Amino acid sequence: MAKKIVVFYYTQTGQTLQIAQSVCRPLAEAGHTVIYKEIIPGRPLPYPCSGKSFFQVFPESREAIPCEIKPIDLSDAAGADLVIIAYQVWFLSPSTPFHAFFQNTAIQQYLHGKNCLTLTGCRNMWVMAQTKVRAYLRDAAGKWTGHIVLQDRHPNLVSVITIVRWLLYGKKERSGLLPAAGISAADLSHAAVFGQIIAGTLHSGQWNCLQEQLEKAGAVRCKPSILFMEKAGHRIFGLWAKFILRKSKRPAAHREFLLRLFKYYLFVVLYFIAPIGLIFFYLAYPFLRRQNNSK
Ligand SMILES: Cc1cc2nc3c(=O)[nH]c(=O)nc-3n(C[C@H](O)[C@H](O)[C@H](O)COP(=O)(O)O)c2cc1C
Repeated sequence: MAKKIVVFYYTQTGQTLQIAQSVCRPLAEAGHTVIYKEIIPGRPLPYPCSGKSFFQVFPESREAIPCEIKPIDLSDAAGADLVIIAYQVWFLSPSTPFHAFFQNTAIQQYLHGKNCLTLTGCRNMWVMAQTKVRAYLRDAAGKWTGHIVLQDRHPNLVSVITIVRWLLYGKKERSGLLPAAGISAADLSHAAVFGQIIAGTLHSGQWNCLQEQLEKAGAVRCKPSILFMEKAGHRIFGLWAKFILRKSKRPAAHREFLLRLFKYYLFVVLYFIAPIGLIFFYLAYPFLRRQNNSK
């Protein structure tokens, strides 16, 4: 029997929509109805965007402050068998359009009791954002059934350069020594495999086996070294975001100045402090792993 899948997404460059479409292609081919619902911010982050606009969204993303979004028409979304939430990570947290989405009362009521699958397209740090999204789903009593994450597989420092080049200057393609930015074409097309697995679950109704099957097919990858940096970054970003928001109550110039300061801080951390931290991490990792295994 044909099922109904509703996909909520927001995208700045089009990448998140491409991922969702790749995952959903086998579902549509199997005869299911796939409805796409775009989340449209009142003031969208342009693509490409200026460095200033890029950093403007930092405190609100980290502190879960929603941006303004246009009302979402749910009239054709009723009775969905599966809701796919295709979001991106901004500064190790869900993007502000998704804070707005999850904090919207009509959406919370809509998600209540529904099977929900989360889908992320990001650079390489997604765990803390997903923790927040899972908390939103718990609050709305949505039934989380699985997670798929697609990420840039190049080394961390390389993907920092290519993502800046992409989002700030619109250059996604490879050039010189730099690879193309974002999720590779191969990973994008492989995402259809996840759609086939979801189609099987829609048929069998065995939602509690879905995540295990997705993971076996490579839907969730997480490098311990990246997670180590992400957890530390998330904590420190929280302090920065609170500080900037507190000081922003005074003239806007304070906010601009502090965001610029944060930008320099991030640069120093990414290129100088994180590599040193990683050396310590790799030295300590065998002991940490042994400790975890013996627990
Ligand atoms: C302001 C901003 C901050 C971002 N921060 C992160 C991050 O902390 N971790 C990460 O893996 N990707 C990060 N990204 C990359 C996005 O998660 C996403 O992959 C990229 O923006 C493309 O998504 P799109 O579909 O919205 O265009 C960031 C992107 C933007 C614009």
